[in-house]
Amino acid sequence: MDGNGRWAKQRFLPRVAGHRRGVEAVRNTVRACAERGIGALTLFAFSSENWRRPAEEISLLMQLFVSALQQEVDKLHQNHVRFRVIGDLSRFDPLLIDLIDNAQRLTAGNGGLVLTVAANYGGRWDIMQAVNRLRQSAGGSVAPWTENDLLQHLSLGDLPEPDLFIRTGGEQRISNFLLWQLAYTELYFTDTLWPDFDAGALDQAILSYRGRERRFGRTSEQLAAGTAGRSALG
Ligand code: IPE
Ligand code: MG
Repeated sequence: MDGNGRWAKQRFLPRVAGHRRGVEAVRNTVRACAERGIGALTLFAFSSENWRRPAEEISLLMQLFVSALQQEVDKLHQNHVRFRVIGDLSRFDPLLIDLIDNAQRLTAGNGGLVLTVAANYGGRWDIMQAVNRLRQSAGGSVAPWTENDLLQHLSLGDLPEPDLFIRTGGEQRISNFLLWQLAYTELYFTDTLWPDFDAGALDQAILSYRGRERRFGRTSEQLAAGTAGRSALG
């Protein structure tokens, strides 16, 4: 989710106004995904590199996260959303950690949209914590680890790999998001600033996705013969 600051700047508003509108865009996008029967939405809210921002902006972002949780979790639960946060939460305020824990516990049994917020997340961090957990669980065994062993210890190890990656705000980078899982994901970049992202923008991204041919290393002819599966996005 990129472009909150620029959205505010264009309107001669402080950056935090952009972040506030960004929360609105999150609300709209979560609703649109649930309405479209999408199985999982993962939002990159705060990267491990975002600590480099001015202290005041970080503190405002944390306050927004707290108030969004306080205001939205019951609604998410009513709508059967399973809410989770991935990332290294150890640096967060205990109040925020508490709210996250409670929200995860409350919604853990829900069967609707799996909504994951990546906070103080980095794809390299994720791979390293998986490696370290593997090393611990392996004990003295010297058997080589497989890709599947690693996958199971990654933050999203229980979800299918994402079909579609959307980055707003005009930048064409992965920026340390789900490095392992994005290997075969369709990438979609849009100039739309995150606060302007809505159901229509989501549909445009899905339309672009539908125009692509996902071969996973196969040939077009093999696909035409119907050897590959389709995803929820069509
Ligand atoms: C994304 O918007 C929100 C967060 C990283 C929390 P930015 O804050 O990066 O907005 P720009 O890139 O300055 O426009
Ligand atoms: Mg940015």
